[in-house]
Amino acid sequence: MAGPPVVLCRPDGLHVAESPRLWIVTGRASDHARWQRLVAGDPVAGGDWPVRLRHALSESPFDAVADPLDADQPLLPDDPNHLFFAGIDQHTSLLVAGVVATTTTGVTEVGGVVQRDCRGRGFGHEMLGEVCRLLHGHFGVARLVAGCEEANLASRAWLAGAGFTPAAGAPAYRLANGRPARPMWWERIDAKAVHRCRRPGPSSR
Ligand SMILES: CC(C)(COP(=O)(O)OP(=O)(O)OC[C@H]1O[C@@H](n2cnc3c(N)ncnc32)[C@H](O)[C@@H]1OP(=O)(O)O)[C@@H](O)C(=O)NCCC(=O)NCCS
Repeated sequence: MAGPPVVLCRPDGLHVAESPRLWIVTGRASDHARWQRLVAGDPVAGGDWPVRLRHALSESPFDAVADPLDADQPLLPDDPNHLFFAGIDQHTSLLVAGVVATTTTGVTEVGGVVQRDCRGRGFGHEMLGEVCRLLHGHFGVARLVAGCEEANLASRAWLAGAGFTPAAGAPAYRLANGRPARPMWWERIDAKAVHRCRRPGPSSR
């Protein structure tokens, strides 16, 4: 039987866990900035982001090599309702994936992106599997939800492969940019979720 996730949990909110090929790191501002830049430059993942934001982000220089894990780092504001997980390739130090877990009125929604050139190589499964383990077994979240577009077959396979099952959710709606979205909703439940983090977990209400 799998035990609790093995994770370095620092009092300042930084976490470091490991999957076979990735370091999974929470909270570093440098990883988050790289991830935003990566998504902004990706028409599939960032195509619905506001144009002005995409332009602003794409003007800043982008180096996909993550800062060393032992570097002294500014952290993101400490907010358990907005967790950011960076997936860093242990061999190349490249930032290959990012997953966010946002909690609003007690519901924790996850979403993520794998860097374009790294897709289809199992990084998505590896990253999401470990992030779910951490969210359930370290941050103490029993129910995770996720939404993807019905037509996004990669995302559907990604979520199903991580143990998400179809769930009820909001029907079709328009995004802020006017594009109609046909969402499909998913959930992943671990009734044995345990809060082990030394800091408060996401709010349950
Ligand atoms: C969805 C995403 C994160 C998957 O990451 P990935 O590293 O390519 O995924 P993996 O290689 O681990 O493969 C995951 C599953 O997706 C399938 N898949 C990958 N690319 C696919 C594609 N283009 N079309 C259909 N299925 C695809 C794989 O076959 C695998 O399914 P399986 O378990 O049934 O074999 C990635 O495609 C991505 O970042 N997409 C753009 C952003 C996005 O849509 N994010 C999801 C929003 S919730």
